[in-house]
Amino acid sequence: MADRYLRWTHTGPGRFLTRRLGLPRPEVLHRWTAERPTLEGGPLLHLTATATEGCGRKELREALDGCGLPVVHGRTDVAHGRTDGEGRVAAVLVDATALGTVAELSGVHASLHPLLRRLAPCGRVVLLGARPAPDDHHQAAAQQALEGFVRSLGKELGRGRTANLVRLAPPARVDSAASTLRFLLSPRSAFVSGQVIEVTAEGHAPGTADGGTTENGDGSGSGEGRRLALVTGAARGIGEQIAGRLAREGAHVLCLDVEQAADDLTRVADRLGGTALPLDITAGDAGARIVEALPDGRLDVLVHNAGITRDRRLVNMPADRWAGVLDVNLASVLRTTDHLLAAGALRGSRVVATASIAGIAGNVGQTNYAASKAGVIGFVRALAPRARAEHATTVNAVAPGFIETKMTAAVPFVIREAGRRMNSLSQGGQPLDVAETVAWLAEPASHAVNGQTVRVCGQSLLGA
Ligand SMILES: NC(=O)c1ccc[n+]([C@@H]2O[C@H](COP(=O)([O-])OP(=O)(O)OC[C@H]3O[C@@H](n4cnc5c(N)ncnc54)[C@H](O)[C@@H]3O)[C@@H](O)[C@H]2O)c1
Repeated sequence: MADRYLRWTHTGPGRFLTRRLGLPRPEVLHRWTAERPTLEGGPLLHLTATATEGCGRKELREALDGCGLPVVHGRTDVAHGRTDGEGRVAAVLVDATALGTVAELSGVHASLHPLLRRLAPCGRVVLLGARPAPDDHHQAAAQQALEGFVRSLGKELGRGRTANLVRLAPPARVDSAASTLRFLLSPRSAFVSGQVIEVTAEGHAPGTADGGTTENGDGSGSGEGRRLALVTGAARGIGEQIAGRLAREGAHVLCLDVEQAADDLTRVADRLGGTALPLDITAGDAGARIVEALPDGRLDVLVHNAGITRDRRLVNMPADRWAGVLDVNLASVLRTTDHLLAAGALRGSRVVATASIAGIAGNVGQTNYAASKAGVIGFVRALAPRARAEHATTVNAVAPGFIETKMTAAVPFVIREAGRRMNSLSQGGQPLDVAETVAWLAEPASHAVNGQTVRVCGQSLLGA
């Protein structure tokens, strides 16, 4: 759906009036296209926030390979609050992994304070931290401080710029974070801000010693043959974009949706060179029918995207509206995953489920929907360690905020406008933003990201 306000703010009168009246002026976000695949406006500046070296340049250089940006290793003069260099930068990566005391937080200030005016529109700030240690309250205080810092910075940056924190959980090394850094330091993460993403050391992609790093940095060309992906709810909206995004990197996509959507589904599958699978995901035999549709009995990527809303305040909500939403959005996710795990169809695979910020913040009229989406977050968190240990499979979720789809077009105007603007980027996201995030979690190289729920919400104020 078109955001007319955003377009108007980029006209002459719109620019004049927004400035005069102090209205939000959302940036036209730089999203990935084949013509503009990397961030623009300057190099990627790598700084270390502490006197002692954090990750090490060689490891970081390797991890940043594939960002497509020239990397400049800068110096921070902590004592004088200075960062070397001049001119625009497209992105800044601050290595704060060695941060162990509150006093050392001044290094974060010294790194970024002089730089922010040099950060290009739609630029990125990424902090690399360590998991707060349970047995070292000084380190834990300093590392936890980074979370508040990044979330505040994301709200301050403006002009389509974002800030995120990547945490290494020991003994993870920075190479485990390579796919995550590539994603965050690219136009693919245009609507992801204020997030804390933890990266662990365990887990490898099947058949690779190093976790299956990709050849060109966008998850494509793993060189392991064509991957097979299943996307539920693929006939339209976010699911259609996810299917398209996975096909873009060479996957064969099984596009699943209800029989009533068969025409749209066939159109999508044909366009992507995939296979249409008309099926109600709540059907008792859905798991078995999916297994039947797998040529080799296994799936590389499973995306639980199908979802419905049946909004009404609890006081007015009949049991069937409650049950329908819980069944499509949550129970079917568990049933299908359990069936595919038991059938051995998920080995070395990536499972990505779709939650919602409604499941984090709650919403009037959405007790059923929010319960189902909160349930998805619980499902992912609990299953992830076991799925990795027993099936070498990762299980993560995306939690979209306000995304421009038919679902949100049906929301009354005033609530829709509020939903669109109440985030750090002052606009709704596009289905592609969710698809890009799913595609990153689905990469073979994202083996070290597990059990996480990543919000794709432009840092919405809801549930923040
Ligand atoms: N649009 C948003 O702003 C937003 C925000 C947060 C979360 N989400 C979630 O993202 C997902 C996609 O949302 P969307 O906006 O694209 O919705 P949409 O209504 O445009 O598409 C959902 C698709 O799921 C399919 N579907 C519904 N029930 C099904 C069933 N039983 N079996 C198989 N397919 C079924 C529908 O036919 C439809 O094609 C949903 O899980 C939704 O809850 C969306």
